[in-house]
Amino acid sequence: MSMMEMMLILVMVMTMMMHVDASDTNRAFQPCSDTKIQRSDGFTFGIAFASRSSFFYNSSQQLSPCDRRLGLSSSSSQLAVFRPKVDEISLLTINTTSNFFPENYGYMVAFAGRKYAARSPPAFVANSTYMVTSFTLVLEFQKGRLQNLYWKRDGCASCSGKSNFVCLNKQDCAIGTNSCKGRGGSADCSLGIQLAFSGTDKHEAVLNSWYEVKNLRQYSLYGLYSNLRDSLTSQFNNFF
Ligand SMILES: *[C@@H]1O[C@H](CO)[C@@H](O)[C@H](O)[C@H]1NC(C)=O
Ligand SMILES: *[C@@H]1O[C@H](CO)[C@@H](O)[C@H](O)[C@H]1NC(C)=O
Ligand SMILES: *[C@@H]1O[C@H](CO)[C@@H](O)[C@H](O)[C@H]1NC(C)=O
Repeated sequence: MSMMEMMLILVMVMTMMMHVDASDTNRAFQPCSDTKIQRSDGFTFGIAFASRSSFFYNSSQQLSPCDRRLGLSSSSSQLAVFRPKVDEISLLTINTTSNFFPENYGYMVAFAGRKYAARSPPAFVANSTYMVTSFTLVLEFQKGRLQNLYWKRDGCASCSGKSNFVCLNKQDCAIGTNSCKGRGGSADCSLGIQLAFSGTDKHEAVLNSWYEVKNLRQYSLYGLYSNLRDSLTSQFNNFF
């Protein structure tokens, strides 16, 4: 390779790196802060794991995990923070084979923002009997401000005919917790959370990844159920 070619590659790499940096204009890196995004930004949000009741204030009102009245930081809970790129389909994974045991918490809530707080409904993840390993989370923005977070269910379509899975409440495919690695079983029951963005960014550009997930869904989630031993790897492979 000539010096010129090397220089060219170096310049290209640097340009790409600068581009990546420059394209993320969102300075909010904490999930409990408010921001407005544009399409090329990263967006920070959190997922809190805890018992279902700990997401409710006075047993009735669901608050954002950022709200100190819930006292989540002092109770038995776990927090995962992610910063995906807006409008890119991403698969978040949380390894549950050794350090993190969702059956000790039960439910999860996705959230972001403080003054403009948005939170998803609590979703069942695991107890000592069952574990749900595959989720789709939709982040809905309006003019760049997060308005809504919700879990998109497929009505157990992806587990029909899979003998290892049962359908819970006609909405979640679940595997027996004792089939999972770290609990006496051999399946890698790491959580896979597929993200999709909908709505508009702060320049009112339309976010399209939700549309793509709707169309790709049958392929993207299939891998998780088609081969338990290698579930997350095959999920990635089936995706594209
Ligand atoms: C919370 O519960 C207490 C006791 O059950 C009640 O007195 C109070 O009015 C409730 N507060 C709200 C905001 O609902
Ligand atoms: C989870 O962690 C275990 C132990 O570190 C590792 O063997 C396994 O491959 C990981 N699974 C995934 C899906 O990353
Ligand atoms: C676990 O959750 C499932 C589904 O919600 C429920 O049917 C089952 O009774 C629960 N098991 C335990 C031990 O709580």
